[in-house]
Amino acid sequence: MENRVLLEKLAESHKLSADQWRQILGTYTDNDREYAASLARDTAIANFGREIFFRGLIEFSNYCRNDCYYCGIRRSNRKCHRYRLDKEEILDCCRGGYAAGYRTFVLQGGEDPHFTDIVLTDIVETIRERYPDCAITLSVGERSRESYKQLFAAGADRYLLRHETADESHYGMLHPPEMSWKNRMQCLQDLRDIGFQVGCGLMVGSPWQRVDCLVKDMLFIESFRPEMIGIGPFVPHKDTPFKDKPAGSSKLTLFLLSLCRLMLPRVLLPATTALTALDKDGRQMGVLAGANVAMPNISPMLNRKNYSLYNNKPLGGADPAEAVSLLREQMAAIGYTLKVGRGDYKK
Ligand code: 5AD
Repeated sequence: MENRVLLEKLAESHKLSADQWRQILGTYTDNDREYAASLARDTAIANFGREIFFRGLIEFSNYCRNDCYYCGIRRSNRKCHRYRLDKEEILDCCRGGYAAGYRTFVLQGGEDPHFTDIVLTDIVETIRERYPDCAITLSVGERSRESYKQLFAAGADRYLLRHETADESHYGMLHPPEMSWKNRMQCLQDLRDIGFQVGCGLMVGSPWQRVDCLVKDMLFIESFRPEMIGIGPFVPHKDTPFKDKPAGSSKLTLFLLSLCRLMLPRVLLPATTALTALDKDGRQMGVLAGANVAMPNISPMLNRKNYSLYNNKPLGGADPAEAVSLLREQMAAIGYTLKVGRGDYKK
């Protein structure tokens, strides 16, 4: 079958076989990419209209016990200036965010041992109490099933944990031996069982990623059926072992966004910040490829430069309100508006 026909089949039946994925990911042309984007855009519009959900991202700690080879806040990076926000500072971000119209707060951080279950559940409970009409998303890495249960009971709704790669041996090339792909996958399953809306995802063009890895990623995503998917290009960070590795391609990233939209029509799919690191119009390009979510940074400006996962990470608008108006303008320029509300996954 021609790639064009495969894309139509994907748009209709929402799945492809491993061989068909291998064909399309191995042989796609610019034309195929553009066709996929137009189908994906139509699918997103059919499900969400020309409306984009926005989430306030609070990067609350850059301490991390992990040592992922690609990541700028890995524990071995001595040049990383470490910070953590306390509860009041996090609540300040929520206050500013709420006033600016955000109805989802995404608490993201490194795996910082300071944030024990007691500390983190207290923060989640307080946000839940003060902002009953908001969704709380956590993105704090691998924790025990018991811990996830407590965070869910405290009022968290969603959890983002990228699987990074669905190929176990590839995972081993991106992470030190003490990290395990099986545990990462188990965490995703635990989160799902507990009742979170779950987001998995991957870096596009990470070192040694091959077409076969992406085939596995698509098959994994198809079977796991996440409510959210985070897909961004790998971007090297100068103080990591991968500093000299080439960045992933934004075209391939956009293509994968489109393919995910076609596979899971109602999935919550952000135009990720890393896309914007490669191209200032990354957000708009993401939306035009089928994304329907943006996650402006509402962390204190002073900390942002230190939450450096990769180089050229944009700092974003000065405050939560400015970030929304910037996003609103970017979306208006391509004929989209912002939608105020929690923006939950619709079953
Ligand atoms: N380039 C792109 N994405 C990265 N992440 C971490 N380091 C990098 C990098 N150098 C992504 C990972 C992680 C998420 C929080 O950020 O996919 O899951």
